[in-house]
Amino acid sequence: MAETTAPYGATAAHPPAARKSVNLPRLADMQARGEKIAMLTAYDATFAAVADAAGVDCLLVGDSVGMVCQGLPSTVGVSLETMRHHTEGVARGLQRVQGAAFLVADLPFGSYQQSREQALASATVLMQAGAQMVKLEGGGWTTETVRFLVERGIPVCAHLGLTPQTVHALGGYRVQGKGDAAAALLLAQALALQDAGAALLVLEMVPAALATTLTRELTRCATIGIGAGRGTAGQVLVLHDMLGMHLAKAPRFVRNFMAGGGGIQDAIAAYVRAVKEGSFPDDALHAW
Ligand code: KIV
Repeated sequence: MAETTAPYGATAAHPPAARKSVNLPRLADMQARGEKIAMLTAYDATFAAVADAAGVDCLLVGDSVGMVCQGLPSTVGVSLETMRHHTEGVARGLQRVQGAAFLVADLPFGSYQQSREQALASATVLMQAGAQMVKLEGGGWTTETVRFLVERGIPVCAHLGLTPQTVHALGGYRVQGKGDAAAALLLAQALALQDAGAALLVLEMVPAALATTLTRELTRCATIGIGAGRGTAGQVLVLHDMLGMHLAKAPRFVRNFMAGGGGIQDAIAAYVRAVKEGSFPDDALHAW
């Protein structure tokens, strides 16, 4: 029998407000208990509600919106106004279904590099649009920016490894942290970001062994991997990637969760299950 579908993706099997809200203490508790954190990108109200009903812990309004929704060649061209607009839509979608997911939004390229004050002003725009945490890319110079934001009540997710906003400096979308020196630098940067107060750390395209080491070393900052193997405290994917929708070739670390059949909410629920039970990613297929 067909399931009754309510607006914004909630179904009888996945009623809205059936979960407790995810917040910083709950994320820390999940890390401490070893429960994997399932994060997914979202760019609009409806997908946010569907992903929330499917059990996603954290929604990321990623600046990947530029590539996925705007057709840009990289995330470099994404503006703060675009991030504000999409964050507001996602936040409204969550409010409409009394969603439980924790909402993270990306500070786009050029919105935080100039000064800590610029970062605070940009983060304020995203927090007032409904974000509960902002994400920024890079290590080293970002440490004091993270501290500045955290001291002022803004939760921060850091992002190391492949940092797409600096794709031109990196020379392409390549695996980062290979070799002893690069791995040691990444570890030092990650520890400094944790000390500065970052509560989450996205690790993108780094060797699985290195991501596992970082996850073990960071006890107050949960690692969220993308192309970093299964040893991280959580996983994140770009929504369109895991639904099998690509303008270009899918990266190796992606699994198409639509391939199992069913609808979009089923695919997202399958992703959440796979992250929680540790069957995604498969290090032989999706990692380095
Ligand atoms: O912008 C984005 O979607 C991201 C994820 C890939 C982590 O930063």
